[in-house]
Order: sequence, then C-alpha cells, then structure tokens
Amino acid sequence: MKVAETAEILLKNQIDTTQLPEHIAIIMDGNGRWAKSKGKLRVFGHTNGVKSVRAVTEACAELGVNYLTLYAFSSENWSRPRAEVAALMELLVHTIRKELKTLQDNDIKLNAIGHLGNLPDKCKLELEEAIKMTKNNSRMTLTLALSYGSRNEIVDAVRSIALDVKNGDLSIDDIDDQLVANHLYTHNLPDPELLIRTSGEQRISNFMLWQMAYTELYFTPTFWPDFQKEEMYKAILAFQNRERRFGKTSEQVKA
Ligand code: FPP
Repeated sequence: MKVAETAEILLKNQIDTTQLPEHIAIIMDGNGRWAKSKGKLRVFGHTNGVKSVRAVTEACAELGVNYLTLYAFSSENWSRPRAEVAALMELLVHTIRKELKTLQDNDIKLNAIGHLGNLPDKCKLELEEAIKMTKNNSRMTLTLALSYGSRNEIVDAVRSIALDVKNGDLSIDDIDDQLVANHLYTHNLPDPELLIRTSGEQRISNFMLWQMAYTELYFTPTFWPDFQKEEMYKAILAFQNRERRFGKTSEQVKA
C-alpha cells in the first residue's frame, strides 16, 4: 500500500460517522491557478477538477453524508472569456453523460439549483435527463449550483412571496423564516452544516447566503484539482472539532 493511501485511511478512520455534517457545500476554486502553475491553459484545470468532483462525491457517499452541493458555475461566471464558458458547458455535458451510470450504481440523486434556463440547450437537456433518471435514488443527493447566484435566488423568492400576497393566497403575518426558506431553490435541502472553499480565498461569493446563517466555514489553500479524498476527510475532521453554539454559551452547549 502506498504512503498516501495509508494516510487517507488513517484520516478516514478518525471520522465519527455518527456526527457527520448532513449537508456539505463546496466552492470549488483554483482550477485556473492550478493549471497556470503547471504551464497549462485554464481549461486543463477544469478538466482535472472533474476528478476531484468524483473523489469528493465518492468520499461523501461512502461515509454516509446525505447532501453534497457543488458550486460549479456562478451567475457571475458568465462574464468569463467566451471560450472558457463554452469549455465549461461542454465539460458539464460530457461529465453528466459519463458519470450517469456511476450515479445510478451508487444510488445518488442528481439535483440542480440556479437559473438553469440560461444554460445552453444541450446542457439543459443532459441535466434534465440525468435528474429524471436518478430521481428515485436515495443514498445521497448531489446538487450542482449552475448559473447560480444567491441574491438572484432571494430576489426570486421575494417576488414569488409578494405575488402570493397580492393574489390573496398568503397573509403578511404568515411570512417567517420557514416560509422564506420554502421559496428558495434549496427548499428541498437542509441548510449546509459545512462549507468548504478551496484555493485560499476566504469569501462566500454569492453562494447560499440565506442558507449559511449557521454553517461552519472551512478554508484550505489547496487548489480544487488537488482536493482529493484525504483533503475531504481533513475538512470533516475539522468540522467535528468545532463547537457549534447557535447563539448559546459554551457551558449551555456542553450541558
Ligand atoms: C473555479 O476555479 C472553478 C470553476 C468556476 C468551475 C468548476 C468546474 C469544475 C470543477 C468542472 C465541472 C464540474 C462539474 C460538476 C461537472 P477558477 O477557474 O475560478 O480558478 P482560479 O480562481 O484559479 O482562476
């Protein structure tokens, strides 16, 4: 057995599988810089980033994490160079097609959030098909955030609530936390308990702003293509060492 594999197993064995975060969200960052550091084009970083998508999905499913959400393309990413956007969309189509069988074999349900209507037709069709094919899977839900922006999501929710009030279907007194949450794209997902961002940046970048009110944030300098199972285990172990107080005192939590 290789040294790296041994380190991976040692880390995995330290994880308390009864205390896993129910929902992990990831901002996959650093593909471009990873490629550049190797003298390659940015797209090479994205292509290698898919290997990390595979590794973390597998790691989460094996451990028993119920929800994994990946920020794959933000509403702001549309302003990247046209060729890079096209390459990312192509990669998405190719990956969904290639990985559909793996999702089925592992009982993983695919889900997507964002302004999906803005995606190229080919991408939309491939995604819709994979979502339909995996809708009865129940081991884990893998959500891809695509053309996603949290402020757009909140604006859409406010509009939809306002419309319900205007039509007389809802009273203003009925508006509370839960009602707002029910109008978000993530209405069928629990709030993430752990957010991971790779590449050393320490920002949330318009990702699940409402849902992250009490999420534990974990930042690592590792670029996304280097974020493999071992890194995932480290993030979960860091989460398990946090004290989550939800506004209470440490003494209250311990009691
Ligand atoms: C951020 O790195 C990464 C993205 C904008 C795209 C992420 C996409 C993938 C990993 C591949 C496809 C994903 C799926 C789910 C099939 P960056 O380009 O911002 O890197 P930089 O900050 O170093 O420039």
